[in-house]
Amino acid sequence: MSLDRLTFQGLRNLQPLDIRPCDGVNLIIGDNGSGKTSLLEGIHILGLGRSFRTQQLKHAIKHDEDALVLHGRLEGDPPLPVGIRRERSVSESTIRLAGAPVTRIAQLAETLPLQLINPDTFRLLEGSPAFRREFFDWGVFHVKHEFFDIWRRVRRALKHRNALLRHAKMDRQALAVWDRELAHYGVQLDILRHDYMKSFLPIFEETLDELLPLDGVELTLRYFRGWDHKRSYSEVLHNSHESDRQMGFTQQGPQRADLRIHIDRRPAKEVLSRGQQKLVVSALKLAQGRLLEAVTGRRCIYLIDDLPAELDRHHRHVFCKWLEKMQCQVFITSVEYESLLGLWQKATSITMFHVKHGQLTVQA
Ligand SMILES: Nc1ncnc2c1ncn2[C@@H]1O[C@H](COP(=O)(O)OP(=O)(O)O)[C@@H](O)[C@H]1O
Ligand SMILES: [Mg+2]
Repeated sequence: MSLDRLTFQGLRNLQPLDIRPCDGVNLIIGDNGSGKTSLLEGIHILGLGRSFRTQQLKHAIKHDEDALVLHGRLEGDPPLPVGIRRERSVSESTIRLAGAPVTRIAQLAETLPLQLINPDTFRLLEGSPAFRREFFDWGVFHVKHEFFDIWRRVRRALKHRNALLRHAKMDRQALAVWDRELAHYGVQLDILRHDYMKSFLPIFEETLDELLPLDGVELTLRYFRGWDHKRSYSEVLHNSHESDRQMGFTQQGPQRADLRIHIDRRPAKEVLSRGQQKLVVSALKLAQGRLLEAVTGRRCIYLIDDLPAELDRHHRHVFCKWLEKMQCQVFITSVEYESLLGLWQKATSITMFHVKHGQLTVQA
């Protein structure tokens, strides 16, 4: 799966562009502030309907312009066009896929599975559990088609239950109804996540083993489902009525699930160097792409902002070798070309773009 054409208008500092990325490695080289990250941001918006830099898409619209218009074409027979338009004066974006309007963002995500590796990716180690839940739920969403519906039902049940808990006079009958609903779908969600992690772990370990052999120490990844492992979820919910009520929300459940990453029982973020952390979080992202392909035959597109940063030459090389092996389309930014030189095999197709003051040119 790859994008063979991109046309962007009105995005950040970028001049209107119309480029033909290759299906292998696309290098985007330019000085600070030239527009490299903006290009990745544009692809991300196409794939997810939202930016990784701002909650409000209107901030990505170029100053002094009224709208941003992004188009991409997924290669295939026939090719699949995807487009998104966001006007400054309208709060919703218009999204089209293969000429038809898109009403569910999930539809976009299904079509264009993206993996982003940028400084925010470190949050997988140092951020709150929400980042790790978003991470594994991405995987569950892509490989288990039931996920989306179950996840929505869990959210709905939680919303209703929490509203009842906050009510001055708690309606016990209604609470029992939402307890049942939440227990039912909460357990289903846990089963999906648990199964996913079981397939994910060996692939992650294999990926990490090449990227960062950890001699003599053990890195463990443990999935925590969000409630006491010795008790059933319905029992937990039933027994926590009073304390949940005092807190005003449901304290245990799949909304608290996490992935615990340790090295010899210490949190990985406390033990690893910055470069090592980058390799661990990259291994997590690469492993997700590998698992997606193994299960569905579909390949992710990788967006990697500043690949060379924090990595020595040897580790850059192993990282690039993994990307080559996976035969995914990748977009890699870097301040200088030299730090990416000689990292690829001859057979790999490479296209290089230079960005200067928002102007993109392709290197012949
Ligand atoms: N909405 C906007 N309109 C115009 N320029 C913007 C907007 N938002 C950010 N910029 C500018 O775009 C430039 C490029 O940013 P960025 O893509 O992050 O550069 P790079 O990744 O190459 O360092 C920055 O100089 C920034 O000030
Ligand atoms: Mg940048």
